[in-house]
Parts: sequence; structure tokens; C-alpha cells
Amino acid sequence: ALLHIFLCLLLPARQELALSSFSPEEPSTIIQFTHTSNAQMYSLLKRTAAKCSHISHVYSIGRSTEGRDLLVIEFSDNPGRHELLEPEIKLVGNMHGNEVLGRQLLIYLAQYLCSEYVLGNERIQTIVNTTRIHLLASMNPDGYEDTCSMWTNGRTNAQNLDLNRNFPDLTSVYYRNRRSRHYLIVMCPRVLQVAPETYAVMKWVRSLPFVQSASLHGGELVVSYPFDFSRHPQEERIFSPTPDEQIFKQLARTYADSHATMSNNDTERCGASFYRTRGIINGALWYSFAGGMSDFNYLHTNCFEITVELGCDKFPSEVELYPEWKRNKESLLSFLESVHRGVKGVVRDKDGNGIKGATVSVRGIRKDVTTGKDGDFWRLLNPGTHIISATAKGYSRVTKRVHIPHSMSKAGRVDYILEKGGDIERQEKPWWWNYFAQSGVTPPNWLLRHI
Ligand SMILES: *[C@@H]1O[C@H](CO)[C@@H](O)[C@H](O)[C@H]1NC(C)=O
Ligand SMILES: *[C@@H]1O[C@H](CO)[C@@H](O)[C@H](O)[C@H]1NC(C)=O
Ligand SMILES: [Zn+2]
Repeated sequence: ALLHIFLCLLLPARQELALSSFSPEEPSTIIQFTHTSNAQMYSLLKRTAAKCSHISHVYSIGRSTEGRDLLVIEFSDNPGRHELLEPEIKLVGNMHGNEVLGRQLLIYLAQYLCSEYVLGNERIQTIVNTTRIHLLASMNPDGYEDTCSMWTNGRTNAQNLDLNRNFPDLTSVYYRNRRSRHYLIVMCPRVLQVAPETYAVMKWVRSLPFVQSASLHGGELVVSYPFDFSRHPQEERIFSPTPDEQIFKQLARTYADSHATMSNNDTERCGASFYRTRGIINGALWYSFAGGMSDFNYLHTNCFEITVELGCDKFPSEVELYPEWKRNKESLLSFLESVHRGVKGVVRDKDGNGIKGATVSVRGIRKDVTTGKDGDFWRLLNPGTHIISATAKGYSRVTKRVHIPHSMSKAGRVDYILEKGGDIERQEKPWWWNYFAQSGVTPPNWLLRHI
């Protein structure tokens, strides 16, 4: 702990030195592999976006408890807007304020994407031209500040809430009602105090059609994937797969296998041993917790999120930052590329208008995805033959048989045209219906109306 405090205090002076030799006018591949204070992070991300304004832009998704911006830097060939069929992906760092490596890696990644694009790196250009990338380097800037000021350990936000326990627990609802395929947020602030950081992220994940996400943490060296909340929470280490177990395993493998040491069987681990599964694990099988961000993403949106534990040291010393970037760089790029797996398409009516909110289902997988504003959808799938159908309220159902070969490097295109009427399916009542329908119960005022 002493070392960290020392680093945090030492940092500003060193960083200034580094920045004075940095010319904002001309593109540069030079990345300063130092720790970055909140103020430095904001200025660095803004300058990166300004330097690459043709492919980048920054925006805030809200403010932390103490009023700091939750600043996102975006990369895309048309920054600032969603393009039909272009998948959206996000990477989130520093959710736990004292786990800082992910935050630094995302700051480096932003600079790397910008300068390599400008320098003509074909791989980076292809990624940016075909994908909309959002990097939230710090989800918990207040906690980071705390970590550096020695008063608390900085894992939580300024209200002392662990943000990765602070999301609505939809997983319990899922276990209780296995027939439901949609999970609305109905929650009670009297039970759950929603942090502004959590609320901002909830709004964010609902506002964009994210397909894939990674939350970067520290303290272990492993990728874990949902569910994080156990189907038998009273017992320890219960394998609790989602209906998309195969896809999540593949996503986790993508990161772990491209990492320099994560999937090694001889790696010195931080306490637990993951060599039997080569560096990946189902979250609840490792340890169970409710209210996590990844379970929420999966059950409430179309987004598949994994949790990457980047290493034993939550606050690595500065000399470790460049080696860590080298260990993780290929993983980060492969993870961005892996969003182009499975199938994507547009669901339209007979006049060619995209249908928003149509449901796309895969036979044998009890998790639907829904279409975005213009009717576009993405469905991550592993190679093989799949029966995929699309339907929408007031429209018929159309089913297609799709084969995804092993060698695919782009998502297969599957479009649907739905007829009006047809056999309109009985709409299943949502799980909370009975609650509202009970006589004598006044409608609760704790619905999150504004999200
Ligand atoms: C990416 O898009 C830009 C702008 O349209 C284009 O000049 C560049 O050649 C593209 N690069 C690749 C590798 O597709
Ligand atoms: C680790 O991997 C090597 C080579 O793949 C294998 O020979 C060895 O038995 C493995 N060790 C353990 C403990 O699994
Ligand atoms: Zn963490």
C-alpha cells in the first residue's frame, strides 16, 4: 500500500515532464506508460479525440457521486452515430477504484487506435471502419481518487457502494421464472441504493445496441463469464451457466488465449488455480455474488459481457505498465474483432421499413435478442447449424436455417421480412404482472421511469 501512495503523490510532476515533450498537433505513436490521474485522463482522452476527430469523439454518460465525469471515448468511421448493421462494443475499466490496470490499458488503447489508424495500420483501420468502439476508462473516478489519498482503499464509490453489487439482481428473477425471456427493471431503492455511477451505466447500456462488452478488473488472472450469481447461492462453487454458455466460453477464450500468460498452466496465480480450464471460469463457479454488471447486461440487454481479471496486482507499479500493455494488447484487439461473429441482419416489414423491437430467437437457446431502432440485430453464435426465427408484435414469425462455417471471419447476414398479422402470438405476461394485478396494491412509485 505504501508503494501505491508514494506513486500517486509522485505522479503529477513526472507526468508534466512527459507531456511537455508531447506535441498535440502531429500524430505520434508515443504512449507514456505512466499512471494517469483523473485530470490527466480527461485531458488525454479529449486531446486524443481531437487529434483523431475523423474517427473519434468523447462524451460523458453522467457524473460520479462527487461530480466527476464518466467520460467515454468512442472510435468509429462515423463517430457520434449508430450505423445500420455496425456492431457496438464497449470496454469498461476501473469499476473498482483501486483496480487501475484496466483503466490504464484503455487509455493506452485509445491512443494506440488513434495513432495507428492515422499511420495506416490496416488491421486497426479495419476494426475502426467496421465497428463502433466505446471505452469507459474509469467507471469509478471517485474511488480512484480515494485509492490515491490513503483514506480508504478505493474499491467502492464515494457512497461506499461496491458498483459490481449495485445493479438490479435480475438473475434471481431468472432462476425463479425460467419461462420468461425478457427482464424489465423493477427495483426498489429502499432495498437497493442505486449509485449515480451505476445509474449512468444502466442508462448507457440501454441507449445503444451493444453486442459485446468487457469489464476490466484486477486481483486475479482469469476471465470469468456470467452468471456471476449462483443458482444455489447457499452453496459454494456452483456452476451456473447462461443459456449462452458456449458463446461465453468462446468469448472468454478469445481474451485468455491471446494474452501472454493468462491461459498458461504454469502461471503463478494469485491464490486460486485456473489451469484446468486454461484461464477462464464461470463466475458463480468461482464465487457467487448478486447485483453484478455482467448478469445485468446479459439479462436486461442484448449485450454479452465478460469480466477480465488482469493480474494479481490491483495497482501495479509504473514499470509494470508497459509490459502489461504488451501482454494484453493482442487480447484487446482480438476481443474487438470477435464482435463480428455469428449472424447479423435487418428485420423489415413488406414495405422495407425496419421493425424496432422485433425478437430474434435461436432454437435451443433460451435468450432472445431484440432489434434496434432501424430493425438491425446481431446474434453472437458459434459455428454450426442454427434455426433462427424473427417475430414482432402484430407480425408473423419467419424461421430460417443458418449454417455458420468454422472459417467465418465476418458475421453472416440473415435478413427477415415479416408479414403483418399472420398468426399473432399470445403475448406472455411479464413476470411482474401479478404483482401489479393484485387488488389493493397501490402501484409502486419506484419504477425507474427515466431510464
Ligand atoms: C477505412 O476507411 C477509410 C475512410 O473511408 C479509408 O480511407 C480506408 O482505406 C479504410 N481502411 C481499410 C483498411 O478498410
Ligand atoms: C502443462 O502443459 C504441459 C504442455 O502442454 C503439459 O505437458 C503439462 O502436463 C501440463 N501441466 C499440468 C499441471 O497440467
Ligand atoms: Zn474488481
